[in-house]
Amino acid sequence: MVQSFKPSAEPGSNDRIAQTIEVEVDDEDDQYELLEGEREIVDDSNNNDDDDNDNDDDEDGTYSITSTRSQFTIQPVYENGRRYCNDTYFMPNDDAEQTRLNIVHQAFLMLLDGELTKAPAPNGPSRILDIGTGPGDWAVEMGEMYPNAEIIATDISVFDAGPGIIGLPNVHFQLDDAEEEWTYHEPFDLIHFRCLTGAFRNWDGVYRQAFKHLRAGGYIEVAESEPDFESFIAPELKSDSYYNILASAMRSAADATDFPRGRDHLRSSSLTAVGFVDVRTYDITVPVGTWPDDPKQRTLGKMILIVFLEGLEARSLRQLTATGNWTAEGVRDICEKARLEIAVSKGASVTVRFMTGRKPMSHAPHRLRRQLQIQKLVDEMKKSELQ
Ligand SMILES: C[S@@+](CC[C@H](N)C(=O)[O-])C[C@H]1O[C@@H](n2cnc3c(N)ncnc32)[C@H](O)[C@@H]1O
Repeated sequence: MVQSFKPSAEPGSNDRIAQTIEVEVDDEDDQYELLEGEREIVDDSNNNDDDDNDNDDDEDGTYSITSTRSQFTIQPVYENGRRYCNDTYFMPNDDAEQTRLNIVHQAFLMLLDGELTKAPAPNGPSRILDIGTGPGDWAVEMGEMYPNAEIIATDISVFDAGPGIIGLPNVHFQLDDAEEEWTYHEPFDLIHFRCLTGAFRNWDGVYRQAFKHLRAGGYIEVAESEPDFESFIAPELKSDSYYNILASAMRSAADATDFPRGRDHLRSSSLTAVGFVDVRTYDITVPVGTWPDDPKQRTLGKMILIVFLEGLEARSLRQLTATGNWTAEGVRDICEKARLEIAVSKGASVTVRFMTGRKPMSHAPHRLRRQLQIQKLVDEMKKSELQ
């Protein structure tokens, strides 16, 4: 694997607001139970070497990272008063964004009633990969909740005041671009992606690598809260509201880049196309604002409102100014006007999507498949003896 880093200071009813709707299920192709010890089986195709990294830390905040996979330089880019991890990724990685992501995490926790994932909980020793971990809140909480699991948390960016400072022995942060070839030695039981729309040029390629690096029977989870035209509803906003003007401009600016910002990667077909089975999507609609009467929903709505309003500039500034049609002042001005509209808007909501899929047992190595078949036969014989 590539370079590890350690963050350096301490650091989220049954009405129309918060319904969990299971909208799609693709039938699984097999139903084998996992055998004990299965996770130890290493996919022979993963024979890359990933040790022996060098990390030179310059005084100006530039990190040169050498790995067997790639060599890249992390040099923060300062633009219009925000800090970015490179020239391409559209979201900043400064303190304001880190705080926003910490609140996003708390909101996700509340949304899932304290759970961290919609995928089956890790059972015993397991390996979990968190792609694009950001400040690392999810990875650290998974490490706390599942002390027998080993968590690898990767990103192209260093959030130097993330919860990683807690330094759990089973949580490892690594610098890694998920669009490059993955070079992990051992397969994972769960691979997690959250809030990564706009991060990748080619989601199919990333999903293919996730498939390859899961053990047979392992799960992928993709969660997204990006408020786009499909997922954000604000009944009181007119079509010519500042928010809608801003949202249209953001959509056109994003479309002009190689990094899709829509929800195509959240269709179940995007996982089945690379071989996942038992694909499920869950849509949870949450309030944006303090308008709900229910106290829990109001608290959630307030949290979502904060991250939503803070996210307007974070999500738009770089891409809009890059078009040449917007100045930074112009973007900040419209963001402020849109904020005022949304803050008082009643009934606004955003739909968060979770999607899970399983790597089928038919992809287990030959020996394991044989063991499973024999086990099945033995079970059937035992059953018929009892009858
Ligand atoms: C919006 S943040 C989400 C962080 C975290 N997953 C969460 O839910 O709080 C997106 C993260 O993806 C990272 N990222 C963007 N492009 C990436 C890539 N090609 N490989 C790995 N991480 C990437 C960014 O640096 C950023 O930390």
